Amino acid sequence: MFYSIAIDGPAGSGKSTVAKEVAKSLKYTYIDTGAMYRAITLKALNLGINNLAIEENYSFIYDTKLEFRNNLMFMDGVDVSKDIRTEKVVKNVSLVSSLKCVRDKLVIMQREMAKSDNVIMDGRDIGTNVLKDATLKVFLNAAIDVRALRRYYELKESGSDVTYDDTIIDIIRRDNFDSNRLHNPLKKADDAIELDTSLYTVEEVRDNIIKIFKELIRNE
Ligand code: CDP
Repeated sequence: MFYSIAIDGPAGSGKSTVAKEVAKSLKYTYIDTGAMYRAITLKALNLGINNLAIEENYSFIYDTKLEFRNNLMFMDGVDVSKDIRTEKVVKNVSLVSSLKCVRDKLVIMQREMAKSDNVIMDGRDIGTNVLKDATLKVFLNAAIDVRALRRYYELKESGSDVTYDDTIIDIIRRDNFDSNRLHNPLKKADDAIELDTSLYTVEEVRDNIIKIFKELIRNE
């Protein structure tokens, strides 16, 4: 039997950073489901498939190979980790992710990845849908200005010329869209533990999650 930790939350709540650190400490496999949705969005853009035409042309999703190698996102054998963070992808990803044909395929892949390994998986619907039986479910949150500032610095560091105002507008737009879509919206699972990361360092949040997780499996 394998253990799984599900981490959900809005953009900039610290999911990926914290999940990577927890995975490193526990020697678990980290699965960034957001990167998978971003990769499919990139592929649709590269193929010139308009968002609204994806449902009629969804077979390309089934022909796409997605895999993680050393926490990098490979699509069809090519490292797309940088390309999936561009503004063009960010602008389209929420709409693409709301399509049932996209979610159906990616959720199957994500469940498959969790079958043969101890995993920590982050996203929007991991606790509510992908890994309903996860050993531990965490919902990370933080104040909107903290989330926007974190994302702004992240983007700046990677060489983007984005402004703080653009960043906060994008986060609010995506959160609204992700929370209000029909299929598997962003939502805290009833049995998830909610942690507000606004005032805590990555290390503090990591250690807290590991402590909760260890207590949980000790009492199993
Ligand atoms: O890093 P950030 O939280 O900004 O975004 P992400 O985790 O890379 O996810 C990008 C987008 O993918 C989200 O805004 C959602 O629209 C979508 N997504 C989703 O629908 N379901 C998931 N399990 C993960 C991401």
